[in-house]
Amino acid sequence: MVENPIPEKEVYADNNATTPVDPRVKEAIQPFLEEKYGNPNSMHSRGREAREAVEEARAKIASLINGEKEEIVFTSCATEANNHALKGAAFSKKGKHIVTTKIEHDCVLNASNWLEEQGFDVTYLEPDKNGFVSPEQVEEAVRDDTILASVMLANNEIGTIEPIEEIGELLEKKDILFHTDAAQAVGKIPVDVKKLKVDMLTLNAHKMYGPKGIGGLWVKDNVKIDSLIHGGGQEKGRRSGTENVPYIVGFGKAAKIAESSLKSDRKKLNKISGKLMELIPEKVDNVVVNGPEDVDRRLPGNTNFSFHGVEGESLVLRLDSKGIKASTGSACASESLEASHVLKAIGLDESLAHSSLRMSFGRFNSIEDVEKIREVLPGEVEKLREISSM
Ligand SMILES: Cc1ncc(COP(=O)(O)O)c(C=O)c1O
Repeated sequence: MVENPIPEKEVYADNNATTPVDPRVKEAIQPFLEEKYGNPNSMHSRGREAREAVEEARAKIASLINGEKEEIVFTSCATEANNHALKGAAFSKKGKHIVTTKIEHDCVLNASNWLEEQGFDVTYLEPDKNGFVSPEQVEEAVRDDTILASVMLANNEIGTIEPIEEIGELLEKKDILFHTDAAQAVGKIPVDVKKLKVDMLTLNAHKMYGPKGIGGLWVKDNVKIDSLIHGGGQEKGRRSGTENVPYIVGFGKAAKIAESSLKSDRKKLNKISGKLMELIPEKVDNVVVNGPEDVDRRLPGNTNFSFHGVEGESLVLRLDSKGIKASTGSACASESLEASHVLKAIGLDESLAHSSLRMSFGRFNSIEDVEKIREVLPGEVEKLREISSM
């Protein structure tokens, strides 16, 4: 039995913001913070020991997405990987047009906005009411000068799994680079870069029980893009800077565990989110379920509701005081107190977008957590509605 890092009385329902570190990952990291302190670029035995560990981790991560070891470039996070993919492709190819969607993570949207300031044209595709964009929309949007399309694999707020394989097929025929942000998907659903027909894929460790501050960009071997960070030439010149050995080792361990437990984790998580999506509308009036209903097209463990007349932030704070950790919109958007761009893009008005609650579950949750949420949530929604009607 793996020890559960979540305190006994806590319901941690914010796994899309970050997952707790799996104790097996922590154990794998520890020696690299202590006696295995070498720089992987040193020639002596301490250096070689660190290099071996980095390369082993690289192989485990590549195996999880059916890529080749040499195609993984380590980055500091998924934000950096997405910036690398977009800016690296934009500046290395001829052409000036990029296609993306309105429901990407802020790091893709803000990198795209910045590219527009540098003279590139960006088309932002509108999703349907469940967050899907279609291959037909992509086909209509691409032009003769399109360099790149970037469409996320799974949305962090409403869990929509985009039809990446179909879009990949289409773009392959047109010889346009295709990037997908799979930060929320890898480790939770099967991800196979060959099947998806992508050229670049972003991933990170802290959404799959690894440490924060380490990510990666998978770049298909025949694809050459510019580097963002220049320096000593690490990562074959693609991303300079001494490798974060302990966290890379942790990332590798997390990938290895994910490969063996993906099926059982997914089954449990679908059960938890499915049960909650059934229960909440039964127990609470005037609630909207955001995102797709079909479990096969939704990230396992993701739920997102809007409660009419309730401010999402107030609800998060009240739940927190009862031991339930959830969030409104995405972790980054929550700080700005702006309504989620994703919920607005799928057609929610400002007020409903402000009244959203995302509960996202992970490996260390159990079906009993649903019971605790059922006991607490309806009453808290009711109290907030009473307060706002006073
Ligand atoms: C879909 C998606 N992409 C990118 C990121 C950014 O990840 P990181 O925190 O590793 O920069 C997140 C984090 O919430 C995410 O959900």
